[in-house]
Amino acid sequence: MQLSQWTGDITTFEGDVLVLGRFEDSQASSAETSVDEALGGALTAATQRLLFKGKPRQTVAVDTLGRLGAGRIVLLGLGKEEQLGVSGLRDFAALAVNAALSGRYKSLGVIAPTSNPNDAMQLALGAELGTYRFNDLQNEPEDAPYASIDALTLIGTDVGESVLEAANAIASSVNLARTLTNEPANVCTPERFEALAREISSAPGFELTVLDRAEIIARGMGGIQGVSRGATREPRFIHMSYTPTSGEPAAEIALVGKGLTFDSGGLSIKPAKGMEDMYIDMAGAAAVFGAMSIVARLQPNVAVHGIVGACENMTGPDAYRPSDVLTMYSGKTVEVLNTDAEGRLVLADCLHHAASLKPDCIIDLATLTGACVVALGPNYAGLFSDNDELAERLLTAAEGAGESLWRMPLDPKLCEALNSKRADITNLGGRYGGAITAAHFLHHFKGEGPWAHMDIAGPVLAAKDDGYIRAGGTGYAVMTLWSFIESNG
Ligand code: BES
Ligand code: ZN
Ligand code: ZN
Repeated sequence: MQLSQWTGDITTFEGDVLVLGRFEDSQASSAETSVDEALGGALTAATQRLLFKGKPRQTVAVDTLGRLGAGRIVLLGLGKEEQLGVSGLRDFAALAVNAALSGRYKSLGVIAPTSNPNDAMQLALGAELGTYRFNDLQNEPEDAPYASIDALTLIGTDVGESVLEAANAIASSVNLARTLTNEPANVCTPERFEALAREISSAPGFELTVLDRAEIIARGMGGIQGVSRGATREPRFIHMSYTPTSGEPAAEIALVGKGLTFDSGGLSIKPAKGMEDMYIDMAGAAAVFGAMSIVARLQPNVAVHGIVGACENMTGPDAYRPSDVLTMYSGKTVEVLNTDAEGRLVLADCLHHAASLKPDCIIDLATLTGACVVALGPNYAGLFSDNDELAERLLTAAEGAGESLWRMPLDPKLCEALNSKRADITNLGGRYGGAITAAHFLHHFKGEGPWAHMDIAGPVLAAKDDGYIRAGGTGYAVMTLWSFIESNG
């Protein structure tokens, strides 16, 4: 999709579709009025017939039959002006491109509802995120070969090429994370992550370390080793390291992602219903790859580490057992009481490695607990941190990125839920507060510096298409992470 900008007399805009927005209960804009005049009042007639009030998602469409440069006019409701946030702008653009797609049109112009440059960026993001389809594994995808727009023109904005370039880098990275999440476990494997890490790390400023099973064992990464023992597919420990190619980095950040390419539960096996979706248990890693792919393209003046622990949790003959005691990379011992609480074991080794780099902060992302989804519902991720300043900065980043994030307490009283008679700690908390006890477990391995943990089990998967969000993997947290990285620069 070619993205460009245009300012000029709206009636002369040449393209298949011209999209206008109207705020709820407000008058037609001057652009809408001139379009309506050129059409001899046909647009007004249609809005009246359809009781168009500008409510979100309300749509009116008319053909221009050669009376305007554009072939078809689409008028979309924007909702209340004061409620139009980043998500509203993205949804508007997504609805616009999907309206064009469903008519199998190839080019469209969208009139920006505001003149704010960040809003233009959100429109571009919404358009690219809204046209995302996961059909790589279909021989005859339903809407291909039509499911592509050749050209999108933002009308009435004038924001410099670099803003559009940044929007494209961000949107394609969110879509990359969506694809990684959507891919089944026989496609998205630890080896695929390695290949992707090599591709991302070919950008300036990158170094890459990848450890295979033998090296993971040799280094004493007992968490990753234990969890991956039941799987034939080899685990990978991946560390992408980016340092700006010129000047001192303004900060150094470590991102850590849970990359369980499949979680059967292991010997504490999941019931069939609970296992179906467990190909998404690498969405934390997907967020880290998405963020690193933006870093590779936009080269911020912040040093960023992307660390991923990737493996399958399976039930093979050598699988780790409930009751096993693992010696972790940090040296701590863990009594395994449930092999389905595997994410924290993999993350523990990754966190210990991240801590050894002594970054300014560590942020880990994981589809860690069903309990977090029970607590917050499917749309919010839970944020846990021992550092109020870092927590506040992440909440601000999430807000700016249009992603829902809610801080949860690291209740000190729940710490003892992990007490073990046979080892330093167990991997299983008590009956209540499962997302909190999981966070406490991670806390044992995060080292001395500021740390935050995002339990993203809920928002990484969407049940249905909704504006710029598409059913399936959402790419959640990529935009929050980028917005956080930028705030350090
Ligand atoms: N990957 C799951 C958590 C999960 C559940 C993610 C639902 C997405 C949707 C995790 O490894 C897990 O199985 N957690 C257990 C922990 C329990 C055994 C302490 C859970 O949440 O039930
Ligand atoms: Zn599990
Ligand atoms: Zn898991």
